[in-house]
Amino acid sequence: MSKVLVTGGCGYIGSHTLVNLITQGHEVISIDNFMNAYEKALDGIREITGIRVKNYPIDLCDAGELARVFDEHPDIEAVIHFAALKAVGESVERPLLYFRNNINSLINILDQAVKHKVKNIIFSSSCTVYGQATDLPVTETTEMKEAESPYGRTKQIGEYILKDIARLKDINVLSLRYFNPAGAHPSAKIGEAPRVIALNLVPVIMETAAGKRDKCLVFGDDYNTRDGSCVRDYIHVVDLADAHTKAVSYLLAGKNTDKYEVFNLCIGDGITVLEAIRAFEKVSGKKLNYEVGPRRPGDVVAIYSNYEKAQRLLGWEPQYGIEDIMRSAWQWEQVREY
Ligand code: NAD
Ligand code: UD1
Repeated sequence: MSKVLVTGGCGYIGSHTLVNLITQGHEVISIDNFMNAYEKALDGIREITGIRVKNYPIDLCDAGELARVFDEHPDIEAVIHFAALKAVGESVERPLLYFRNNINSLINILDQAVKHKVKNIIFSSSCTVYGQATDLPVTETTEMKEAESPYGRTKQIGEYILKDIARLKDINVLSLRYFNPAGAHPSAKIGEAPRVIALNLVPVIMETAAGKRDKCLVFGDDYNTRDGSCVRDYIHVVDLADAHTKAVSYLLAGKNTDKYEVFNLCIGDGITVLEAIRAFEKVSGKKLNYEVGPRRPGDVVAIYSNYEKAQRLLGWEPQYGIEDIMRSAWQWEQVREY
């Protein structure tokens, strides 16, 4: 049983990953200051796994507080670093907030990893590092383009920092580039519950269906795609969580050939916005009140990938598709209390 530190463990992907790690026999601790999460996520994790996860509600930018956590746990074997601010639009308005939070927290984690000889780091990256990709599907060897936002730039910079550290120190790093995470745990005990207003497609669909907002606006239907709306690669958060546990096992078993490796995590299938809406309507039996509006500035027309590398090296493949995503997200939306 190895001890894994999960930062951002009360957030959306972090909470699902804690469940998966616990279920697969890992000991876990979490750091999350609840800046975009609720303590209730810990109740949901306990209801699913029977384990109350110890969470330290500290700010990762506070180097002294972080050092105390590492001092208290000298047996941490791997860190999964989820904690970050992630609202693309806000990052455009407040870039320094994003650079300060996302970069300082990463540097502090690396300081402690070096000091305490923690050799394995897994970093939450994003398909946003590819910028306006032209050749589809993108793969891990597709070059990074100019980031579309300061948020995207924090992911690119994070990757470069990690690459440099892995080269210098006895640290192995996996950067996992997520495509569009969505859905919720099938138990409906945990799911996406941001403190900030939902802007991503799936939460917007759910909130519209639940009557929390008037309508879902489709951002453009005049793109050069099969139905005119944008194409994305939606991955179920439970599949994503499982990929992290497999990534931990991969590093702990020393299976990596390079000290810095990158994996795309996706289902390898491009879905349009209108198809996503239809999938929701099919599994929920509800008609969604949607309207086609103007394009959203900064949107890429289409991005999707394949999971060939993750399958070959991590032994991971996604189990769920867009209908499972919509079904689980809708179940969560109907019972969530926060
Ligand atoms: P989230 O906001 O639900 O979770 C992040 C958690 O980190 C939150 O609970 C927040 O309270 C915590 N946190 C942030 N800064 C902190 C700090 N300084 N100290 C302590 N805690 C802090 O986001 P998520 O969707 O679970 O995303 C997890 C990671 O995956 C992020 O790095 C995000 O950028 C990345 N990512 C997410 C998506 C997505 O669509 N959800 C896509 C690609 C990449
Ligand atoms: C965005 C970010 C990405 C980040 C991810 C998670 C951009 C350019 N990319 O991805 O970096 O990792 O969020 O935070 O911002 N849509 C609608 N109506 C809505 C909401 C979305 O039509 O109300 C459409 C969008 O135009 C897009 C698709 O749905 O085509 C998915 O959008 P969204 O869920 O916001 O994710 P991305 O923009 O792909």
